[in-house]
Amino acid sequence: MQTLNDVATLRETLAEHRRAGRTIGLVPTMGNLHAGHLALVAEARRRADVVVATIFVNPMQFGPNEDLDAYPRTLADDQAHLEAAGCDLLFAPDVATVYPRGLDAQTRVSVPEVSEGLCGGDRPGHFDGVATVVTMLFNLVQPDLACFGEKDYQQLAVIRRLVADLHLPLEIVGVPIERAEDGLALSSRNGYLDTAQRAVAPELYRTLCALREALEGGEPIDDSLTRGLERLREAGFVPDYLELRAADLGPVDDTTRDAVLLTAARLGPTRLIDNLSLTLP
Ligand code: PAJ
Repeated sequence: MQTLNDVATLRETLAEHRRAGRTIGLVPTMGNLHAGHLALVAEARRRADVVVATIFVNPMQFGPNEDLDAYPRTLADDQAHLEAAGCDLLFAPDVATVYPRGLDAQTRVSVPEVSEGLCGGDRPGHFDGVATVVTMLFNLVQPDLACFGEKDYQQLAVIRRLVADLHLPLEIVGVPIERAEDGLALSSRNGYLDTAQRAVAPELYRTLCALREALEGGEPIDDSLTRGLERLREAGFVPDYLELRAADLGPVDDTTRDAVLLTAARLGPTRLIDNLSLTLP
C-alpha cells in the first residue's frame, strides 16, 4: 500500500489508474481504525479495482469544545490494518494541505434540512464541516463509489443528499454497523471509556432493541421514547436525544413504515451514538 500526503502526487497516481480503465472506491476516515472502518474497506474492495482510504482529522467538523486535539492519532497501526484489509492507497494529508488558506477563508458546502436536528442540533456547523471535506475528497479522488457507515446515519443521509443535489458522478454505498459482541457499536471514541463505563455502554444498543420490539408491536411512539430515555438515565447516560424518524430522516406520520430510532448519549465526557432501523405496523 502506498501512502501519499500531497495533492499533486495523489492526482497523478489516480489519473494513471483511471487511464488504465480501473474503477476507484473511496473510504474516508479520521483514522484510529477499527473493524467498523475495515468493513468499509472490505466493501470497497469487493466493488472497485482500486481502493483509496483517507485519514484526516478534519478540524472544520469539530466544535470549539470538542475533542479535536485529543482525537486519537495512530497512523502506523492504521497503515498496517489498511494494508491487511486490501487497501491500495492511503491519502493522509495535513491540515495545511487540505485548507491552504485556513478555515475562515474556506468555501463551505452546506446541506440544509437533513443537517438540522439530531447530531446537527447538538453540534452546530458539524455537518457543514463534514459536507465540505467530503466534497473536497470526492473532487481530489474522483471515485466511482464511496463507502460510508450506517453508524453515522445522519452523516450518510447528508452525503447522499449532497451527491444528489450537486449531481456528483459517484455511487454512495451504505455499510451496516459493526458491533462488539455485547452490541456496542464500534467507535474510535469507545477508547475514552473506563472499565465501568464500558460495562454500561452496551445498554444503549439494548435500549434501542427493546424500543424496536415495542414499536413494531404497536406501542405508542411517545410512550416508547419516554421509557427509553428513562432507561438510559437509570443506566447512567445523559441522553442528548432519542428520536424516531422516517428512514429518510423526515418526520414520522401515519403512513410511515420504514423508520429509524436514533440516539446520542453521554457517558461521562464521552458521547456515543447509535441507531436501529425498524418497520412500523
Ligand atoms: P470516522 O468517524 O473515522 O468514520 C469513518 C467511516 O467509518 C464513517 O463512514 C463511519 O460511519 C464509519 N464507521 C465508524 N464506525 C463504524 C461502525 N461501527 N460500523 C460501520 N461503519 C463505521 O465519519 C467520519 O470519520 C468523518 O466524519 C468523515 C466522513 C471521514 C469526514 O471527515
